Amino acid sequence: MKYFTKFESKSVADQLIEKALFYKTNPRIDHTVGTGKRIGCIFLNPSLRTRASTQIAALNLGMEPIVLNMDKEGWALEMKEGAVMNKGTVEHIKDAAAVLGTYFDILAIRAFPSLTNKQEDMEDFIFNQFVKYSSVPVISLESAVRHPLQSLADMLTIQELWKGAKKPKVVLTWAPHIKAIPHAVANSFAEWAIGCGHDLTITHPEHNHLDDNFTRGAKIELDQQKALENADFVYVKNWSGFNDYGKIVNTDSSWMLTEKHLKHAKNAKVMHCLPVRRNLELSDEILDGKRSIVQRQAENRIYAAQSVISHILG
Ligand code: CP
Repeated sequence: MKYFTKFESKSVADQLIEKALFYKTNPRIDHTVGTGKRIGCIFLNPSLRTRASTQIAALNLGMEPIVLNMDKEGWALEMKEGAVMNKGTVEHIKDAAAVLGTYFDILAIRAFPSLTNKQEDMEDFIFNQFVKYSSVPVISLESAVRHPLQSLADMLTIQELWKGAKKPKVVLTWAPHIKAIPHAVANSFAEWAIGCGHDLTITHPEHNHLDDNFTRGAKIELDQQKALENADFVYVKNWSGFNDYGKIVNTDSSWMLTEKHLKHAKNAKVMHCLPVRRNLELSDEILDGKRSIVQRQAENRIYAAQSVISHILG
């Protein structure tokens, strides 16, 4: 595996989950696998979990992580091919990516979407510039359209907790937000849940659907209450408009998940990738209650990243 950017296959996902579960009980067992190697963690956007968990994962493997907050500390990057750089940008992305490729054995990149240029975002333009010009293995730390390390941790969390004989019923439910939020977490969660064979239902307000390239194979149910019935896992997430691209198309606070919403899903566990806006996306009663597994998901980010880095290092 040279790139970790999306769901590849159930067999790869199963291997990564199995290895991650192994690392969770033996975090330092492969502490020499990465000796003498460096991973560059390049952030064009803020992060708490991804930044810390990826560094810890690398350190557990004996690899040296170096973090560059390029949005704050780097030169202003030019993205356009053939640009005459006579304005604010200082360094072209192809020069920066090529340099980084000579410094690191693995590059890990976070590059959010603009939410203004749909075509560029759909092509994952910025992320793919790093893939194209760096010539080293690349891990996505969340791109314009996907957040695969989060999804791997989510699948691992479901597998850890699900003891039933049948497939779990997994529900991805839209939540209100005051800002226009990217689609990456929701896209990726759908892609991985479907790929891993879960019984996935997606619920959202009308006109708030996701890109159907990611949701094909899931059941779409616009009645949130109906969707949540007998759910085993409920994933709460906001996303902005896809047709009305990057716009806040709904602010209906009745979509915020509370205990009342789960009256017909008495054993449902509640998931969120974090950061979460309390009492806007998800109620305190859920987040502070027994159903919440958000801290477990966040902890599992370490072992998901460790499994991926280890796989790339071979
Ligand atoms: N879930 C997640 O990716 O968190 P951060 O944005 O804090 O890294």
